[in-house]
Amino acid sequence: MCARMAFFNWAAPAFNRLADRWSPESIDDIVGWLRPYVAPHGRIIDVGGGTGALARKLSLALDAEVVVLDPTPEMIRYVPDESRVGAVLGSAEAMPFDDGWADAVLVSDAFHHFRDQPGAAAEFARVVRPGGGVVVLELDPSGPFMRMLAAIERLLGEPGAFFTPEQMCAFFAEHDIDGVCERIKGPSYRFTGTIR
Ligand SMILES: C[S@@+](CC[C@H](N)C(=O)[O-])C[C@H]1O[C@@H](n2cnc3c(N)ncnc32)[C@H](O)[C@@H]1O
Repeated sequence: MCARMAFFNWAAPAFNRLADRWSPESIDDIVGWLRPYVAPHGRIIDVGGGTGALARKLSLALDAEVVVLDPTPEMIRYVPDESRVGAVLGSAEAMPFDDGWADAVLVSDAFHHFRDQPGAAAEFARVVRPGGGVVVLELDPSGPFMRMLAAIERLLGEPGAFFTPEQMCAFFAEHDIDGVCERIKGPSYRFTGTIR
């Protein structure tokens, strides 16, 4: 078993207590970024969605189906058992969904954990329908605090593979996903892109 799995295996109960950090305002923001791609009754894959706290709130706010895809059983066991919230064991690099199945992919605080980011981007371009969306919530690694956080993650066996907003936009453009990055607060930013 790789170190990444070991980290989220033992961290899952603590993470579950901290995961529901979503204020009504932050949910409104994420709904606004996803709504252009996801009509009522649409489909979203929350890649690296962990315990499903965000998926649950988004399924209600968007009136949509939200499937959490995550490789850590100890995380997805907390995904709420609700009619339009799903949980699928699997990774971003090999997504068990048909081509064009989703209207959008969401990745919150998980992209820097992916060991094969180009492989994940190729999967997003495959499983999201043409014209669908990719929304990534990430942290800019510039600055001493974020450099320390990345170093701690690497000590814990994680990739700590953070991108600056500029790097994120350039990376996705190389993978047929054109979009924009916008800073949110502190090191947080979002990428919103459209599948060509
Ligand atoms: C910090 S948690 C974020 C959970 C949730 N998205 C949130 O914002 O609260 C990172 C998650 O990424 C998952 N993860 C790690 N590697 C992954 C991969 N290759 N594909 C999909 N998810 C992955 C972990 O299992 C973990 O649940």
